[in-house]
Amino acid sequence: MRGLSWLPATSVLGVGLSPVSPADTFYPPTLNSTAYISNSSIGTYGGTYEAARNGPAGGTPYGIYSYCSMPHPRSPEYELPEALTNGSADAKLVYLEYLQRHERRSPYNILPGGENQAYHCDDVRPYLYAGPNSANGIQPMPMYAQTYQDTSNPFSPGVNDGYQHGKDLWRVYGDKLGLIPATPNKRVWFRSSNSPLTQASAGAVLRGMWPDYEGALPLHQMVSSVDTVDSGYPCSAVDSTLLSLKSTTQWKEHLNVTEGLRSKLSAILGANATSWQSTFDHFSDNFQARLCNGYKLPCSISNSSACVTMQMAEEVFRAGDWEWNYYWRTNPDVVKYIQVVEGLFIGEIISRLQAVQDGSPSVDYSHIFIHDGDIGPILGSLGIEALRWPGMAANIAFEVWEMKAEQHDGSLFARVLYSGHPVRSIHGPLDWIPLSKLIDIMSPYVPGDIISLCG
Ligand SMILES: *[C@@H]1O[C@H](CO)[C@@H](O)[C@H](O)[C@H]1NC(C)=O
Ligand SMILES: *[C@@H]1O[C@H](CO)[C@@H](O)[C@H](O)[C@H]1NC(C)=O
Ligand SMILES: *[C@@H]1O[C@H](CO)[C@@H](O)[C@H](O)[C@H]1NC(C)=O
Ligand SMILES: *[C@@H]1O[C@H](CO)[C@@H](O)[C@H](O)[C@H]1NC(C)=O
Ligand SMILES: *[C@@H]1O[C@H](CO)[C@@H](O)[C@H](O)[C@H]1NC(C)=O
Ligand SMILES: *[C@@H]1O[C@H](CO)[C@@H](O)[C@H](O)[C@H]1NC(C)=O
Repeated sequence: MRGLSWLPATSVLGVGLSPVSPADTFYPPTLNSTAYISNSSIGTYGGTYEAARNGPAGGTPYGIYSYCSMPHPRSPEYELPEALTNGSADAKLVYLEYLQRHERRSPYNILPGGENQAYHCDDVRPYLYAGPNSANGIQPMPMYAQTYQDTSNPFSPGVNDGYQHGKDLWRVYGDKLGLIPATPNKRVWFRSSNSPLTQASAGAVLRGMWPDYEGALPLHQMVSSVDTVDSGYPCSAVDSTLLSLKSTTQWKEHLNVTEGLRSKLSAILGANATSWQSTFDHFSDNFQARLCNGYKLPCSISNSSACVTMQMAEEVFRAGDWEWNYYWRTNPDVVKYIQVVEGLFIGEIISRLQAVQDGSPSVDYSHIFIHDGDIGPILGSLGIEALRWPGMAANIAFEVWEMKAEQHDGSLFARVLYSGHPVRSIHGPLDWIPLSKLIDIMSPYVPGDIISLCG
């Protein structure tokens, strides 16, 4: 989207502070200040939090921060690295490490006072059945769980979003760049967390990628108690570091500037419990899920004219974005926090990139289905300039390109796309850097001894 001039229709931002391209909506320059939360004229900073219940949920124009369905690499807009388009290099894509958050879902956090609108989630079939370890054995009846009333349990209704996601990835990385094979083979590898959400997303995305493939595919998972994603392994240092980063003046200040907002929401929604008042996680999740599935913002159960306004929701979203930027970029313990939460997984990514560097990768394409709590620290390790909450299906594509031998001796370059845009990092744009430099950038976040660090 380079050079595209674009202004959001609702922009009331001052000159120099408004996003002028879709990619800019990811990088509010003042996100590290608590004034970002309280300044209502910032609105959504050109992003969007709304989607119809069915059908595609991407923002318009393509490429803006869109919480309900973050943009992903798509053929019409995908651009080759500048070094290739300007003719200074000739290289081919040799490896893709693709990480994504699961697709759109219903809320985790149901309002303590009750929801004034019921969720109807009976139009999705979460399958669960076991088969023999061979195509020759007797195959089981495909069984799915039929929901028959609205529930407080989360699961993914976003199968359409996932299918489109896979189709789009195929057009770029299969059709156009020839890396993803026409049918799955031994050079592709998939993994998810232990959550049904990520597994359901994988089924939809991979079906979009290979619509006619008739076989089954392995989706690798670690044992949940030691999983290196989604906070699997036990680590008391995660809790103690979190406690300490919440004791700073900055953290207290963000609660201070939102005192009025939080007490209004508490009165309307009966949400005075500490779990609702001490971070913006629960309010954000509840409002995002409503807006992303075609529902209205909530009203009081006892007074139908006392409702959460869009202005309140936007302030909640700005506060949520401030918190994510604080957790993974600006808190004083950020290196340790990323190490204890995500360091092992970052180490796994590095070892796959290192195998490419050493000329011995075991696969050409790895795709891992994870959570916002994984995407955040990984972007932190890359030194992203600003980090808004990674929305549904937020994705990171690590591309490795090999120079034609006669040019630079087959040397390897990396590019990292976040939701389709090259990452803007404190290390410069991650658009065309030596693969070894990318490894150097991420390596400090891999703990030397996680067992003793975790305590
Ligand atoms: C609020 O934000 C607008 C646009 O970003 C800016 O022009 C204005 O100075 C800000 N106001 C305050 C009080 O920070
Ligand atoms: C082409 O792009 C690369 C990467 O951005 C840059 O380093 C190089 O100077 C550019 N070369 C020309 C001739 O513009
Ligand atoms: C909170 O805000 C009030 C004014 O609204 C101010 O007097 C107080 O010092 C602030 N406290 C902190 C910890 O920032
Ligand atoms: C929340 O409000 C209820 C009802 O007004 C009250 O009984 C309870 O003590 C409050 N809890 C907190 C943590 O303030
Ligand atoms: C209901 O909410 C509206 C809007 O906040 C308020 O004006 C009204 O006084 C409330 N009614 C009662 C009975 O509390
Ligand atoms: C973020 O703001 C705090 C002060 O509120 C400052 O100490 C810190 O250096 C800033 N961090 C970055 C990365 O800008």
